[in-house]
Amino acid sequence: MDTRRKYQITEYCHRFLSEYISEGDICIDATAGNGSDTEFLCRMVGETGKVYAFDIQRQALENTREKLERAGFPERAELICSGHERMAEHVAEEAAAVVFNLGYLPGGDHALATKAETSLEAVKAAMTLLKPGGVISLCIYSGGDTGYEERDVLLGWLKDADPRKWLVIVNSYHNRKNDPPLPVFILRLE
Ligand SMILES: C[S@@+](CC[C@H](N)C(=O)[O-])C[C@H]1O[C@@H](n2cnc3c(N)ncnc32)[C@H](O)[C@@H]1O
Repeated sequence: MDTRRKYQITEYCHRFLSEYISEGDICIDATAGNGSDTEFLCRMVGETGKVYAFDIQRQALENTREKLERAGFPERAELICSGHERMAEHVAEEAAAVVFNLGYLPGGDHALATKAETSLEAVKAAMTLLKPGGVISLCIYSGGDTGYEERDVLLGWLKDADPRKWLVIVNSYHNRKNDPPLPVFILRLE
């Protein structure tokens, strides 16, 4: 097994998420970016499911649309140019999974990175939309000029999530240097 690749953060999250998503489900990609997570979710929900994908950058949504077209299922996703903190205004159904890949687009403008305050509002909104037994995944990146405040605000708030309703699992690449990314899972208990 190629362990390096299997444990790269998005692949690790996808592996975990795949246990919670079935054909026909509704899922949300809170940060569409270049569309890798949207494509993964569209594959998981199949022809009868639906994915809502949010981004504030039109170019990101265009990249996502092209990726879905190449994959052959552009109709499975609704691409929404809006901040994810407003996701509840756009999604009426309960979601099986909500995916956040925080930070900025690789090679993109750091000023357009996700921000602590809006990411926290978005996670709260995702928790209202999640069905019992559903999962939210967060890939939290910190390093250089971004991400530390966002990481601390999110982890600080999640520490007090009601343990009767939520299980919050914070993973870490414990022996890696220089602020490795954090995969976090928020499970809505049945
Ligand atoms: C790390 S990238 C996402 C990568 C993406 N999931 C992929 O598979 O390529 C983070 C994205 O979050 C977007 N973003 C920043 N603030 C946002 C907000 N408030 N709501 C939704 N998207 C936001 C950025 O424009 C950027 O495209």
